Amino acid sequence: MAMPTPFPAASSSRLPEGVSVQPRTFAFRDLESVPQHWFADNPILTHVENAFSIMIPPGERFFIRAVRHFEDRVSDPELRTLVKAFVQQEGLHMRAHNQFNQSLGRFGIDVKREIAAAERVMDSMQRRLPHKVQLGVTVFLEHVTAIGAHMLFTEPAVAESMHPEPARFWRWHAAEELEHKAVAFDVFRAVGGGYFLRIFSALAAVLLLTPPLVRIVRRMEKQDPRQVTDEMRRSARELNGKLWRPQLRMLAQYFKPGFHPWICDDEPHLKQWYASARETT
Ligand SMILES: [Fe+2]
Ligand SMILES: [Fe+2]
Repeated sequence: MAMPTPFPAASSSRLPEGVSVQPRTFAFRDLESVPQHWFADNPILTHVENAFSIMIPPGERFFIRAVRHFEDRVSDPELRTLVKAFVQQEGLHMRAHNQFNQSLGRFGIDVKREIAAAERVMDSMQRRLPHKVQLGVTVFLEHVTAIGAHMLFTEPAVAESMHPEPARFWRWHAAEELEHKAVAFDVFRAVGGGYFLRIFSALAAVLLLTPPLVRIVRRMEKQDPRQVTDEMRRSARELNGKLWRPQLRMLAQYFKPGFHPWICDDEPHLKQWYASARETT
């Protein structure tokens, strides 16, 4: 049985053959069964992923608003259809992450406080940054997300070391991120966004978002009574060791003037996920 699809798929000549932007509803099967350290039984890795999950709903709301602000200036009807599907996908991601984030409360994490902290950061960026920079920030963060998604599909050790429930959840999110990875970029270009604005916005995103993300991780560490052992540090380093080179390579591509998100061919990973999602959902 395929995953429920409340919205139509957006097809486009901008996408690889057989790939569309298809919003799907994700249903957790048994969120209560997810252990506290669901990522490789490792608090370091789990806290980092949990902190990303906390940042995701306000982050995606920011992306939706940034892209929608320019929607009327997009003349290509295909791109407008893709924007609609992008908004629907991000809306569904927000909903599922909210559900996941709420479930973290049972591990002693002060979920309300962390969500409020993440919302403050994103709201302040929305208030203070010019709209074009907000769109540029979105373009960059969509690329960062696409890097993470690409890693999830190309490095099997990542998903295999997760508890099956969050593994299925992150793979669903990752697949949809790959489907819509170029939408914000194409809107940015369609409304005259150039290279320097794109790079400036990327640097602004790194400077503004890294400190609050690190603070969330630190607070989660403090709230966790489990002792972090040398073995846990070693296994976290080992996993990062496998990922940092390809991640850095993909990040470097972003700084080339001719960059486009589909320079990285994620079509095979998407097709593989389409086949497996059909079997396992
Ligand atoms: Fe998303
Ligand atoms: Fe996205």
